[in-house]
Amino acid sequence: MNNARLGFWRGWFGMLARGFAICLAAATLCAEPAFIPGEVWLDTAGNPINAHGGGMLYFNHTYYWYGENKAGATTMPVVNKSWDGYRVDVTGIRCYSSKDLVHWRDEGLVLKAQTNNPAHDLHPSKVVERPKVAYHAKTRRFVMWLHIDSLDYQAARAGVAVANAPTGPFAYVGSVRPEGADSRDQTLFVDEDGKAYRIYSSETNLTTYISQLSDDWLGHAGKYARVFPGAHIEAQIVFKRRGKYYFLASACTGWDPNPLRLAVADSIWGPWRECGNPCVGPDAATTFHSQGAFVFPVAGQPDAFIFMADRWNKKDLPDSRYVWLPLVFEQDQLKLPWLPEWSPSFFAAKPAVRW
Ligand code: DGJ
Repeated sequence: MNNARLGFWRGWFGMLARGFAICLAAATLCAEPAFIPGEVWLDTAGNPINAHGGGMLYFNHTYYWYGENKAGATTMPVVNKSWDGYRVDVTGIRCYSSKDLVHWRDEGLVLKAQTNNPAHDLHPSKVVERPKVAYHAKTRRFVMWLHIDSLDYQAARAGVAVANAPTGPFAYVGSVRPEGADSRDQTLFVDEDGKAYRIYSSETNLTTYISQLSDDWLGHAGKYARVFPGAHIEAQIVFKRRGKYYFLASACTGWDPNPLRLAVADSIWGPWRECGNPCVGPDAATTFHSQGAFVFPVAGQPDAFIFMADRWNKKDLPDSRYVWLPLVFEQDQLKLPWLPEWSPSFFAAKPAVRW
């Protein structure tokens, strides 16, 4: 090829390459952030995600997000007026699945309200909150624990349901008042040795109980600890990182937000050392206008944990939004920085440039 023709082709390739690079940069810059806390989040069918007070299960390379289906009118029963106890009727627990944490497919109501029997725990007139699901490898069953209550929150029970598949249907087993006491806000934690624990508000929300579950996880084993006596907390979250147990919780202010509280321990039974509010940034004092629901590790990413929370809209509960934020560890100290928008690629960046 003579020099003139070579120059011509070089020019063309150069222009093409530059064009491609510009498009790539533009695509990266304009790429939609995966998470915008507080915005309406849509599922793959374009509907708002409806999974409040939720929890996450990672099973067979798929994330399953379970939460309260909040639908219908928000009302205020007269008996709940003194504490702003707005409610929606129980419709069930909804599940979404995702491979990438960004695109969520609606798997439908995996545990449905029981409309025929007013005495049933799942009747629309009751309260069903904070579902958490774990997979029991020996029984090959998916076990869901929930907060079950009467309309006035005085029944204060723990309910359990089981399924053979992560997308249900879950069969309701029943409810108990564990350790002979009341049980309201609750979470589920499974340790590396396969032992499972329920952590919940008891003694009229004054004290948190940690109860070990039976081997099949369908009941309570009878071994429990009273922790943070008199602390008056709820929305408990427990997770484990590098052998340390982390505990997060809110104060009890109904649907209104308040500061997040952190404690750490070397054993699930304690002693738990309180470390204050890990939130950093504007509105840290209100947990960024939200209340915690769950923390889960991102699969295949060492040290990557996501905090799931609810930004409750008490007068229009179905319009409550989600606040998800990445946890950051600085010399084992947990921080929860505010990010107005972010993506799972956050975890791939060097810690120093993350926030
Ligand atoms: C706060 C709890 O964390 C929620 O799950 C719900 O029970 C509301 N209180 C009711 O006010």
